[in-house]
Amino acid sequence: MKILILGAGGQLGSELVNILQDDTLIPLTHRDIEMTDEQQVNNILSSNMPDIVINTAAYHRVDDCEDNVEQSFAVNSFAVRNMARICNELGITFVHFSTDYVFGGRKRIPYNEDNCPNPLSVYAVSKLAGELFVKNICSKFYVIRTCGLYGAKGVSGKGGNFIETMIKLAESGRNIRVVSDQIVTPTYARELAAKVSQLIRTGKYGLYHITNNGGCSWHQFAGAIFEMTGIKADLSPVSSSEFGARARRPLYSVLENRNLKQLGLDDMRQWRDALKEYLVEKGYIR
Ligand SMILES: NC(=O)c1ccc[n+]([C@@H]2O[C@H](COP(=O)([O-])OP(=O)(O)OC[C@H]3O[C@@H](n4cnc5c(N)ncnc54)[C@H](OP(=O)(O)O)[C@@H]3O)[C@@H](O)[C@H]2O)c1
Repeated sequence: MKILILGAGGQLGSELVNILQDDTLIPLTHRDIEMTDEQQVNNILSSNMPDIVINTAAYHRVDDCEDNVEQSFAVNSFAVRNMARICNELGITFVHFSTDYVFGGRKRIPYNEDNCPNPLSVYAVSKLAGELFVKNICSKFYVIRTCGLYGAKGVSGKGGNFIETMIKLAESGRNIRVVSDQIVTPTYARELAAKVSQLIRTGKYGLYHITNNGGCSWHQFAGAIFEMTGIKADLSPVSSSEFGARARRPLYSVLENRNLKQLGLDDMRQWRDALKEYLVEKGYIR
């Protein structure tokens, strides 16, 4: 298949580029394309005519989104709407990524695809709007919500990923305060990319949750990183309110991969097993 990837330089995009090597790939980084430039997107899509467009690009510095509302909506909602419209007109399947943050966090059991969103932040509202545009415009689409992504490449705008940040902080000997009242599922971008590669060949269009399985707080995740690597760290739990981030985040946003399960495709590993594989691949443990 001919597949065009937006955000190919990002942590998920780069894993997709690796995993989709047997397809004909058009990997585009931010330097190659500005997704808010409708004319440029139209020219690139209509001249390449891929079978599938995968959009991993987003404006997702969650706290900054609170101050930059227009940019959040320009990238996460309106650019996505334009891309959805162009894909639909050209008969291209559109694959788009969204977030666990579309949920409000009141539940205490995993959210499935039928649960009602209740986004708490500008970022989350803009991502939900993006999802709805795709769903309402495209006849052939996959909207994939994921959670707590980490990958070898790291997120450029966030200075790496959570694991690398924790390891760097521990090595600096500083006290590390990590929130203990937000429950998520850390998800390995490589495993997600492999699952996306499978899913997009099924023709079973729709909304999917795809994360590793199980859940933990960010504090427990940090604890597991230090326990597995044997790195000594001065780690303390803090509450979200003590931490005082600008954007509100759900206190619980574990997702159930229910639609994936119904296709018989949910063999996503427990988050601890995926973390171990990442640490082995990065050479932290054997
Ligand atoms: N990271 C998480 O924990 C997480 C959790 C849930 C859902 N998600 C969703 O998963 C998807 C992938 O996330 P990720 O962690 O792989 O992000 P990432 O590493 O930041 O990758 C996104 C890529 O998109 C590019 N990009 C940003 N704005 C663009 C624009 N206007 N035009 C063209 N390219 C642009 C970025 O390039 P520059 O850096 O050069 O701007 C970056 O290389 C996103 O939709 C995100 O909302 C992420």
